[in-house]
Amino acid sequence: MATKQETQSQPQADASKDGASGGETLSVTDNRTGKTYEIEVTDGTIRTMDLRQIKVSDDDFGLMGYDPAFTNTASCRSAITFIDGEAGILQHRGIPIEELCERSTYLEVAYLLIFGELPTKPQLDRWVFDVTHHTFAHEDIKKFNEGFRHDAHPMGMLLASVGALSTFYPQAKDIDDPEERYMAAIRLIAKVPTLAAWAYRHSMGLPYVYPDNELSYSENFLLMLFKMENRYKPDPRLAKALDVLFILHADHEQNCSTNAVRAVGSSGVDPYSAVAAGVAALYGPLHGGANEAVLRMLRRIESTDNIPDFLEGVKNREERLMGFGHRVYKNYDPRARIIKKHVDEVLEATGENPLLDIATELEKRALDDDYFTSRKLYPNVDFYSGLIYEALGIPTDMFTVIFAIPRTSGWIAQWMEQNEDPELKIARPRQIYTGDRDSSYIPEGKREGPEKITGPPARRPKRPRRGA
Ligand code: ACO
Repeated sequence: MATKQETQSQPQADASKDGASGGETLSVTDNRTGKTYEIEVTDGTIRTMDLRQIKVSDDDFGLMGYDPAFTNTASCRSAITFIDGEAGILQHRGIPIEELCERSTYLEVAYLLIFGELPTKPQLDRWVFDVTHHTFAHEDIKKFNEGFRHDAHPMGMLLASVGALSTFYPQAKDIDDPEERYMAAIRLIAKVPTLAAWAYRHSMGLPYVYPDNELSYSENFLLMLFKMENRYKPDPRLAKALDVLFILHADHEQNCSTNAVRAVGSSGVDPYSAVAAGVAALYGPLHGGANEAVLRMLRRIESTDNIPDFLEGVKNREERLMGFGHRVYKNYDPRARIIKKHVDEVLEATGENPLLDIATELEKRALDDDYFTSRKLYPNVDFYSGLIYEALGIPTDMFTVIFAIPRTSGWIAQWMEQNEDPELKIARPRQIYTGDRDSSYIPEGKREGPEKITGPPARRPKRPRRGA
């Protein structure tokens, strides 16, 4: 049975105590020595450095914590995003995600994440103007993109081109200059959709489309993806749905890619390189790729008649119900609830999708089934988002790329917050060393042991052609 401590995603700071422990302590008795230590408890946490004083002898290194996936370790103090996984609550700067999706726009939310407050009208106008007027990417980036194979994965291309931006703006290395930080924030938020759309156009063998700064952020992205000749006019209903998806994916506290941005950023590198690390982390199937897997699953189920058999397979552990379950949410993911509402609007504009019937029925049956409810398995953000992307005509390879566009503002907000943190140090975890010690160098002729490299000699891989 999970305790509250295990499932709540972030300990909350007690504002009344101003970071002080308020006299709360933990008494730890070391049964190896019989000594007792008093360790301060602040905001529901102890500092693992306080364990270091616990030693069995003077030359002992001292006790450390061991937490391989940071499942119970807070790595920073942050005021950007709050999640209560038990209650299914997500708030940015204290504002519920439901309200933001209903009343705000993606660019306004990006401002909120980065600057900590909703903008006044002149502040928002200036922000939107600045982002809008940096959407063009340097022509050499286009040439750089053209060097990729025609079937290069668009996420690999995005990863490379975001990293390459650091070479176009070397002044961004001056991370202590607020103006440079602002310019990098603007450029990243403005250019990532352009780089993403160009990656897509390249993978389709289509000419690149330049931004149109008369359009909104999401309309512009749709234009750069789909314009042929001069005939494309973004449907406002689709642009609105995409904008809501952008809001929903903008930030999610210390997830894998945000942690990557903070870890890499802690070295003092420029923000383009730190954000490229975030893109790389998001590329992984355990992080950004689940919505793609949901679509494959729905296609495999094929018809609502096959749902009972499929769910039996899940319960027998032959299958996984993709788009269900979450490490933090032990309730309905609030983002899934919002996306579900928008699926109908999008399908009204684009036409029916039979996969929606399967998804709706699958969700209903799973939520009626004790196997799922007893394990607190509810739909997550990925259960319905793939259906919207597909309805927008976006190929599955692009789903993770589209996730990266709005998450860029979250990465920047977290990077900026980190750089203001007086406790910032280079991230450098400890390890428990498990190897040999003090071994001797054995001359080549006297070495023996099992073969380590098996299989045929290394050769050029045969690469399947996508779309062939
Ligand atoms: N289908 C079937 N059973 C599941 C599922 C699922 N989707 N998810 C969890 N379970 C079961 C586990 O088998 C386990 O059962 P048991 O206690 O009988 O062994 C129990 O529920 C607890 O699951 P864990 O694996 O411990 O949960 P964890 O927090 O480690 O995993 C995860 C979370 C990876 C998201 C998992 O729920 C999963 O694989 N879901 C499907 C993939 C998915 O949708 N990922 C997207 C997440 S949202 C995002 O990242 C943007």
